[in-house]
Amino acid sequence: MIKPSKLANNNFLSSLDISTKEVFHILEIAKNFKNKNLNIDLNNKVLGLIFDKSSTRTRVSFQVAMSRLGGTTIDLNPTTSQIGRGEPIKDTARVLSRYCDVIAIRTFDHSDLEEYAKWSTKPVINALTDLEHPCQALADFLTINEEFLDFKDVVLTFIGDGNNVANSLILCGALLGIEVRIACPKGYEPNSSIIKKAYEIYKNKDLLKITNDPNAAVLGANVLYTDVWSSMGEENKKAEKDKYFKGFTIDNDLVSKADKDAIILHCLPAYRSKEITDEVFESKRNRIFDQAENRLHAQQALLSCLLH
Ligand code: CP
Ligand code: NVA
Repeated sequence: MIKPSKLANNNFLSSLDISTKEVFHILEIAKNFKNKNLNIDLNNKVLGLIFDKSSTRTRVSFQVAMSRLGGTTIDLNPTTSQIGRGEPIKDTARVLSRYCDVIAIRTFDHSDLEEYAKWSTKPVINALTDLEHPCQALADFLTINEEFLDFKDVVLTFIGDGNNVANSLILCGALLGIEVRIACPKGYEPNSSIIKKAYEIYKNKDLLKITNDPNAAVLGANVLYTDVWSSMGEENKKAEKDKYFKGFTIDNDLVSKADKDAIILHCLPAYRSKEITDEVFESKRNRIFDQAENRLHAQQALLSCLLH
């Protein structure tokens, strides 16, 4: 029976904190958790959750994952802890390290997450920053792998804003050697250092394509993926972004240009008639709720590998 192996890195701040071998290992462990073939007891280990932004899936899936692993969680609401009153990250991190065995953090600046990791003596997990959402990418590729048993020929097209979700898809896609196409409006392309890192990993450089043309990007694609146009923290940019993202809605016309068996993914929450039409969202191609469920299995696998 397969057992979780310790990861080389102590933290999971970026999709690139793990190797190709480790991504495959986490996906394999996740499948075993999902199929109830694996039972790991973390013996009351405690996960601290710090969420500076809203969350449904990430928060609940981490809580349920810890509970299934025989551990527990403490949800540190920044507004009722000293975090919201400006206690320095380096002090919070050192204190929490004395109570918790692992800490998952959702915040704005990626550099704040790195500051937590610098001062924490316990593993730190990225539960989403403005730059990356690596836990999401693990669940996404688990979902893709359930549909397409061999990743070799899968084409994944992401249509939307080139920020956190797209960035982690690019990096994890590079590790797995999957063709990733990103279509976003001009000025909303993924972070250039992320693209550079991905190209350094891809053996075949043609497998990563960044374009401003969604119609070209979906041609023959097996997976169509989108995310909100205005992310958390961008509430005041909604009107402007709605204008720029016109033409980037996943609708039946775009879907008809993809592979005939293409599936639809969305990290959620979704805004119908913005990034995706209700018709496509509710269509038989939708694997969005399997994807949401897979957050649980992927994070259970991640935690068991980090805390082994
Ligand atoms: N996909 C995702 O991270 O969802 P939440 O914001 O609800 O956690
Ligand atoms: N890009 C979105 C993802 C939500 C899970 C955001 O940052 O709000």
